[in-house]
Amino acid sequence: MSEVRGKIAIVTGANSGMGMAAAEALSDKGATVIMLCRSEERGREAFARLTKDKDRKLDLMICDLGDYTSVRGFVRCVKEKYPRIDILVNNAGFISLDRQETKEGVERQFGINHLGHFLLTTELLDHMPAGARIVNVASGAHKVGKIHFDDINLKHGYNVVRAYSQSKLANVLFTRELAMRLRDRKITVNCCHPGAVATNMGVDRETGFGKMITGMLKPFFLTPAEGARTAIYLATDDEVRHISGGYFYKCRIAKSLKRSKSRRDARKLFELSEEMVRGRYPETRGGVLPLLCYFV
Ligand SMILES: NC(=O)c1ccc[n+]([C@@H]2O[C@H](COP(=O)([O-])OP(=O)(O)OC[C@H]3O[C@@H](n4cnc5c(N)ncnc54)[C@H](OP(=O)(O)O)[C@@H]3O)[C@@H](O)[C@H]2O)c1
Repeated sequence: MSEVRGKIAIVTGANSGMGMAAAEALSDKGATVIMLCRSEERGREAFARLTKDKDRKLDLMICDLGDYTSVRGFVRCVKEKYPRIDILVNNAGFISLDRQETKEGVERQFGINHLGHFLLTTELLDHMPAGARIVNVASGAHKVGKIHFDDINLKHGYNVVRAYSQSKLANVLFTRELAMRLRDRKITVNCCHPGAVATNMGVDRETGFGKMITGMLKPFFLTPAEGARTAIYLATDDEVRHISGGYFYKCRIAKSLKRSKSRRDARKLFELSEEMVRGRYPETRGGVLPLLCYFV
């Protein structure tokens, strides 16, 4: 296990489930952990619970990954307050039965699970030194995923499986492409599937709908601490300090979908994401053509 004492880490979605477990584990190993939470109230509650142990160095910062202005504001504050970021755990996640949109009009699962983290990561890169590590919490659900380049916002034929699996495949493709782009900077990027974990995933935060189902499944699922293990391993263990671009499950390289290894799709998604975080969106069912038209 490598030394993380003195390192500065960010964990997204740190007020619940695996994000909270990861923040706890990293701070217990001696890192200073910035807890990125979207709700001030839920963030404060989690912060109060974790800081009962006075030895933990934690900082709560509010940011909505579904809002580009909020993400850019968060990055600005981090850069003002901290000299560097050594570990970035892109853990936050959202799933929804009905089709919702982010503030900028992006399908919400793609917008939060992929684009919000894409923007956060790319804006933080100039603040990350050689040896830094990025961990993207993906999911085995990426295996049924497809990037709908012709309808990225899923305006047609929306269903939760299509949307969630697209966003999780995007996590894997982003990992591969970013790892290639960061080869010379010695920053590693890996992703993982945590397993089936009893968290608040799928629970409606306003109504509490879904809580009963998650409660019933609890005995059959991993605990958040068990689920966070692979992400912590990737963020801290010496064994993987030179490995980049991998998809892991149970702290081992695992088989991912063939499509998730497509260099072409990874590059295309990266370029599309760059455009989208600048507010330039492709038309539905137009693929890259409207994007090109935008520029010519
Ligand atoms: N649980 C599983 O079985 C499982 C399996 C495979 C993969 N995963 C992945 O594991 C990761 C962690 O999820 P979890 O299971 O621990 O779920 P969770 O308990 O629901 O935690 C999700 C976290 O993401 C945060 N979040 C949601 N939308 C956000 C936004 N717009 N901006 C900032 N933060 C936001 C949530 O904040 P609020 O509490 O304020 O909503 C919460 O802190 C996700 O990426 C998920 O896709 C989970």
